[in-house]
Parts: sequence; structure tokens; C-alpha cells
Amino acid sequence: MHESDNAAPDEDERSARARLDPGAYDFYATGAAGEVTLREAEQSWRTHRLLPRILRDVSAVDTGLDLLGSRLSLPVLLAPTAFHTMAHPSGETATAAGAAAAGSLLVLSSRTTRPIEEVAAAAGAWWYQVYVLRDRDLTFSQVERAVRAGASALVLTVDAPVVARKARRSHPLPLADGDLRTRAMAPGTRSPDREQDPSIGFDIIGELKQVSGLPVVVKGVLRPDDARSCVRAGAAGIIVSNHGGRQLDRALSSAAALPPVAAEVGDDVPVLVDGGIRSGIDVLTALALGARAVLIGRPVLWALATGGSTSVRDLLTARRAELAEAMALAGARDLREVTADLLAPRRDA
Ligand code: FNR
Repeated sequence: MHESDNAAPDEDERSARARLDPGAYDFYATGAAGEVTLREAEQSWRTHRLLPRILRDVSAVDTGLDLLGSRLSLPVLLAPTAFHTMAHPSGETATAAGAAAAGSLLVLSSRTTRPIEEVAAAAGAWWYQVYVLRDRDLTFSQVERAVRAGASALVLTVDAPVVARKARRSHPLPLADGDLRTRAMAPGTRSPDREQDPSIGFDIIGELKQVSGLPVVVKGVLRPDDARSCVRAGAAGIIVSNHGGRQLDRALSSAAALPPVAAEVGDDVPVLVDGGIRSGIDVLTALALGARAVLIGRPVLWALATGGSTSVRDLLTARRAELAEAMALAGARDLREVTADLLAPRRDA
């Protein structure tokens, strides 16, 4: 269907699919509605062309960074994704262990299927993702649990005021009995006070900051004016994202949305990005377009299904090696040297 930098990601998805319950595979893989945004996501990174620098001393390349107080070995974080026990019995706890082993950072979904405290015990650096539910007591009590367990930031997801209809999900989700608490919060279950509150505004950012005492990173921003409003309301970071093509179909690709958002607020707060990032060259491209770091969603689920925490670690280690190679070839010794001049001007720009 499209060119591939690297055959590995597709292979991982195939081997995960062979192991997963069909309902779980469809839940993980699907996009919203006609899947236009989902289909564009990976390709949108690959349309950029690079202008490598020559004759720099690239004998030592450093992919490390500091992000909101955490030292990471690579600028690739694990995006919050729901229901990991469908992929592996240890679920989010295995994911956390894999992320920690690679020196990455886990953003734990509020739809975790393992207890927050258990995941935290296996994790290195981790942030907690929040959906603001109509039931505020439940929302804030989960946040307080995450704070007590050691989360170092909150990620407030704002692109899901309602849960979009998905293209594929004909089977019931294969959640175990122990996951019933999460099942009660799953989209589509008839429990209105446990659904996302569609009435929230920018002031929720300050409220969460106050309740938690943690930095609040806002996820699901595509517009520079919204990014500015988030920063004014107290956001400590912005994640440019269209929810992996699972919310508003035909929303702009994150690769196209990133540069204007980074230009607007990138000097004030870190701007992160996710959606369709599948290789070290994609990471390099995202950083040159203005991101401080990226997040990956589905590839982590495929790795988890295939080989648990070891495969999650190996996935991240592979992305780090690919990024280091791409940086050396582009003449960038550290992430500060991955700048916009590495991108060839585009004819459509
Ligand atoms: C998600 N995503 C998501 N985001 C969020 O803030 N909270 C959540 O619980 C979930 N759950 C979730 C489940 C599944 C199965 C997927 C695939 C995605 C969105 C996720 O954080 C991220 O934005 C995208 O997955 C990034 O795109 P890629 O890397 O999957 O292409």
C-alpha cells in the first residue's frame, strides 16, 4: 500500500495479529469512521525529504534528553493506550517494565487493566493520562491514586469529548473478570457518569494542576490557537495528536499540524507528537518539524502481544538504534542539533 522504511513494523503487527483474539486486534487497529486519518498517518511523515549535513564529527551520537524532570535515553515515549491485558496477561505492568528497561517513559492510560500501583512499581518514569469523566469524584480519586503512586505528570486528553464510532469493532472485548472496573468505564457501556464530560473548558487544566500538584500536558491539540490557550491556562506541555485516527476522521495528520503548533508555543513548553511514527527516520523528521519528543501507540501493543516486556524493550531499543543511525547520517550529534534546516523545503509549502 505504501513505501516502507523498514519491514519490521508490519511484521510485528502480523505476528501480533496471529496471537490476538480477533476482537482485541480490531479494537487496537481500528480508526474512526472511514479511517481516512488513520491511513494518512504513517505516510505523512514519509513525504518529507532530508538535507543531511556532512563532515561533522558524528563518532558519538547522543539520543538522550531531559523532559519535564525525567532523564530519558531516547525521545520516544509510550502513548497511553487502553486495555493491555487483552494483549498480554501482565498487561500494563509488562509494558511499564519494557519501557523502564529501555530508559523510556510510559504514559499510563486511565483505561488501564492493571492496578495503578502495580504498574508504578514496575515502571521507570511514568505519567498518568486523564479523561475528565462526568463523575468528577471518580476522576479526581484516580488522579490522587496516580499521584500517590508516583506519576510525575498528568496527560489530559482533550480530543475525545465524545467517543467516536469506530470502523471496526464487531466483537465484544475479551476483558478478563479482573478488568471489570475498567470495563465499566469502557466506551459504549451505558453508564453516563463514567463517560467523558463533554462540557469541560480550558479551566480544567488549572483545576487538575491544583488537585495533583503535577505538571499537566494537554494531548490532542491540532491548532496553534488552542495550543496557546492551553499554555495560558497553565499547560506544561502540548501533545499534537489526532488520537491515532480514532476520533474525528479526516482530522489533519499530526505531521502537518505539528509545525504551526511548535512555532506558536514551542519556545514556551515542550511540544510532543504522535500518530503513525514507525521508524527512527520518522522520529528524526518529527524532531526537525519542531517536536521535543514523540509517542508511539499501536507498535507497543503489537510488541506486548508478541513477546511481553522483552519485546516492548526491544522495540524501543530498535527505535533508538535507528534514530542514532539517522542522526549520524544527517550530521546531528545530539537532539539539539536536529533542527528544521535538516528538512528540504517542500514545493507545497
Ligand atoms: C489509544 N489512544 C488513547 N489515548 C488516550 O489519551 N487514552 C487512551 O486510553 C487511549 N487509548 C487508545 C487505545 C488504542 C488501542 C489506540 C490505538 C490508541 C491514542 C494514543 O494515545 C495515541 O494518540 C495513538 O495511538 C498514536 O498513534 P499510533 O502510534 O498508534 O499510530
